[in-house]
Formats: sequence, C-alpha cells, structure tokens
Amino acid sequence: MIQINNLHKSFGKLDVLRGLELTIDSGKTVAILGPNGSGKTTMIKSILGLVIPQKGEILVNGNSVKNNWTYREEISYLPQIARFPENLKVKELIKMVQDLRKTLSDPEPLISLFGLEKFLDKSLRTLSGGTRQKVNVVLAFMFDSPIIIMDEPTVGLDPIAMIKLKKLIKEEQAKGKTILITTHIMSVVEELVEEIIYILEGKIYFRKSLAELNGTVKKIGLEGVIAEILEEV
Ligand SMILES: Nc1ncnc2c1ncn2[C@@H]1O[C@H](COP(=O)(O)OP(=O)(O)O)[C@@H](O)[C@H]1O
Ligand SMILES: [Mg+2]
Repeated sequence: MIQINNLHKSFGKLDVLRGLELTIDSGKTVAILGPNGSGKTTMIKSILGLVIPQKGEILVNGNSVKNNWTYREEISYLPQIARFPENLKVKELIKMVQDLRKTLSDPEPLISLFGLEKFLDKSLRTLSGGTRQKVNVVLAFMFDSPIIIMDEPTVGLDPIAMIKLKKLIKEEQAKGKTILITTHIMSVVEELVEEIIYILEGKIYFRKSLAELNGTVKKIGLEGVIAEILEEV
C-alpha cells in the first residue's frame, strides 16, 4: 500500500504539490491523470525518494520513506525521461542496472519480446526514441517487484510495442501487483486501470473508478467523461 499524507513540494516560488492526499491499496492499478505541469512526476519522484518534499509523509507498505532506502527494492520504476550513460552499450546498461540492484532479474524474455537483440551491442547514444523507451521498459520489468510505477510509459512506442507493453502490464496485474501509471493515452487507461486519479494544481481533484464511469464512457468516451467531471467539480 502507498499512502501519501498532506504532501507539499515547491521549487523556489512554484508550489507544485499543495497538500496532496492519496492512498493506493495493494493489488490495485490506478492511472494518475492531469495536465502537463500538474505535479504527477513530482509526486512519483517523491514516492521514490528522488524528490524531497518540504512537508507531509509517504508510507510504502506502512513504512515511512524518509531516511529509508530499503523500500525501493519493492518498486520497479519506469521514469518519464530516462537519462542513460550515453556511451554504454545496451547490454552494458542492463548489466549495470542488474548489478546495482541485487534482487533477481530476468531481462531475456523482454529483450526478445521487443526485438532488442540487434541493439544489445549498440551504444545508447545511437538509439531512436522508441528503442530507448523499449530499453527503459526492459529495465523496469526485468525485476519482479510488488509495486510498479510507470511515468508516461508509452511515449515513443509504436502501436505494436504499445500492445506488447499493455500485455506485460496485464500479466503483472494478474500476479496481484500494485501498479501506478501516468499517461495521456486513454486506451491504456480504459484497458488497464481500475481507478483514475486526477491531479490539478498539486492536489487530487477527483478520483473515480472506471466501473462507476463505465456507462458514460461507452457513450461519450473517457476523454468526454473527464471533461464533464472537470466542469462539474
Ligand atoms: N527540479 C525542478 N526544478 C524546478 N521546477 C521543477 C522541477 N521539477 C519540476 N518542476 C516544475 O514543477 C511543475 C510540475 O512538474 P511535473 O511534476 O513534472 O508535472 P507533470 O509530470 O504533471 O507534467 C512544472 O511546472 C515543472 O516545471
Ligand atoms: Mg510528468
């Protein structure tokens, strides 16, 4: 379970998170939606300890993330902007990440799923955006962690790779994992998530289960539903 209480984060004068409250139960898949700059990535980085909030508390499986590193072993993270050491070859990067994290990993099936064999000896600098994102997916999914956090995982992926990624996510769901995704792709939301959590101006603006919205989604589509809710709230 991930629990966020009264989270505040500002960068200089910019208040990004303003008292954010959120609980995600174990085994659930949720989508974090919201306009660009609403604080989604900042919230995710706070969960991972990559951003230090000024105020508030984050608990992962009941343990505060403050001054604690061990909880990160429980989380697989797919960052929005992956910064790779550009001179490394793909296979060296995979090896490096495996060595950094001591838990068991199995990259081979993922390399084969995304057809990355022919890129293993190429340096990261030479890869296209889509191929980099596939490597990013391998790095996140090669560990068997109970929590998976993905920040815009589909960016740059071609339709076939997108279908493969969705199938991977469904397999992880079937194992009972807790999954948090930010995305602007409504098909990802409709096919995969149980709840949408909408962030606006650093707070949770609304939270709805897809089951609850089902009838309306069928009529006007998910984008239409979200637009309607935004008008109501
Ligand atoms: N390290 C940083 N320094 C200064 N401003 C930042 C930093 N990280 C994010 N921001 C700003 O915080 C706001 C929220 O960013 P972000 O959490 O990335 O939004 P989202 O992921 O919802 O698009 C944006 O205005 C962004 O420019
Ligand atoms: Mg973001």
